[in-house]
Amino acid sequence: MNAIEIRGLTKSFRGMYALDGLTMSVPEGSIYGFIGENGSGKSTTEKCICGHLVPDKGSISLFGRPYTDAGVRAKVGALIENTGCFPSSSVYSNLMMQAINLGLRDRNGEIQRVLKIVRMEDNARLTFKKCSLGMKQRIGIAMALLGDPALLILDEPINGLDTDGMRLMREILVDITKNYGCTVLISSHILGELEKIATHYGVIRQGRMIKEIAASEMDSRARVYVSLKTQNLQAAYELLRQDGCNVKFEEDELRVYDVADMGTLSAVLLQNGIAPRELKKHRIGLEEYYVSLMSGKEAV
Ligand SMILES: Nc1ncnc2c1ncn2[C@@H]1O[C@H](COP(=O)(O)OP(=O)(O)O)[C@@H](O)[C@H]1O
Ligand SMILES: [Mg+2]
Repeated sequence: MNAIEIRGLTKSFRGMYALDGLTMSVPEGSIYGFIGENGSGKSTTEKCICGHLVPDKGSISLFGRPYTDAGVRAKVGALIENTGCFPSSSVYSNLMMQAINLGLRDRNGEIQRVLKIVRMEDNARLTFKKCSLGMKQRIGIAMALLGDPALLILDEPINGLDTDGMRLMREILVDITKNYGCTVLISSHILGELEKIATHYGVIRQGRMIKEIAASEMDSRARVYVSLKTQNLQAAYELLRQDGCNVKFEEDELRVYDVADMGTLSAVLLQNGIAPRELKKHRIGLEEYYVSLMSGKEAV
């Protein structure tokens, strides 16, 4: 079953379409990386799912039930825009207020549980405003995790974090999905980070989903290429073409795709009097895949 299933979602603001018939399928248990340029409709989608915005048209189901169903709403935790914390209250008090709002029974137990998940168990007494950005983001996640949601929606949670903050966030999100069985929808434009944890991707453009793909499928499709720099690119290009290679010009280098053996490639070049200045193997990652999607072509 999918944790989120969206069909034909449309939302306009003053006659301008922010979402224009969006479809989306987020498998249960996934970390779904939601990618798109600024203004493409990521936050609007997330707000619609959370019930902060009412769509004009379309359907949203969560775990197979309409998203308006109270039972299923209780399964959704979200961090969108800001944490909603009171700056002068402690981390613990903020969590307590939220636990009361949610009507939780074992409030202290639940607070300790979420503090542990976000690695903040030693900082519960800190005043919220004294926390670092990374801590604040983690507190926001802790707030969203109160009540043990089955789906967590995070809007750009790693923006502005330093390397350590990003690493912690990665560990936490993987922990949440692996050990707590939670599905995570995370929007981000930091593709290099997303790539380390996402199991699925959805690419949105101008309010429409232009591609959904599992990370495993992307990996199996992700081709390897060899970049070649040499004095005479044109001669190398012609030689490799004649040799049956799939080769393309790319700025100051050639890219040779589907190379089985680097040794053979360099031997062919040398035998024909072409000395490579650089010969390096690369994997086509999320960044390049995304760029190629945006330019209207599938990955090379
Ligand atoms: N409350 C609003 N009022 C008017 N326009 C809005 C509002 N929220 C979003 N938009 C517009 O909708 C489009 C999508 O915005 P958004 O969902 O925030 O994109 P993203 O999160 O991908 O950057 C943008 O053109 C934005 O200006
Ligand atoms: Mg946004």
